[in-house]
Amino acid sequence: MEDKFINWDSKYNIGHAKIDEQHQKLVNILNDLYRDTVISKVEDDDDDIAFKSAIKRLTEYVGYHFSYEESIMEKCGYAGINEHKGWHREFVTMILEEAELYKKESRLIESRLIRKLRDWLLEHIAVRDKEMVLAIIKSKKGK
Ligand SMILES: [Fe+2]
Repeated sequence: MEDKFINWDSKYNIGHAKIDEQHQKLVNILNDLYRDTVISKVEDDDDDIAFKSAIKRLTEYVGYHFSYEESIMEKCGYAGINEHKGWHREFVTMILEEAELYKKESRLIESRLIRKLRDWLLEHIAVRDKEMVLAIIKSKKGK
């Protein structure tokens, strides 16, 4: 099995240094989640603790990162802010729902969960965040 789940690629950079750095950190957290739950399965209890702490770390960082993006959108008067906030909420809900499911079904869904998170995140970065950053850069030039 691959050791790293997602390899950061420069194509994920969208041209905003801080946001790019935070996205890279999110990818690292997903890689940790993968390593701690899918690769290094030990005992049930250990596995559960690793999963819970990885999910906690992910939820906390996602909260911090989304707030950061939303404050930038607000500052720049980005027209798509409400729609974008909706996508962020969708991601947080997805994590919470999947964590609930995990409690019921346990380890079977770990890889599905992480794949789902990866697909959502990479798509969101490449399309939604890129669109937002381009508009923000443009708005700054316009001033
Ligand atoms: Fe975003």
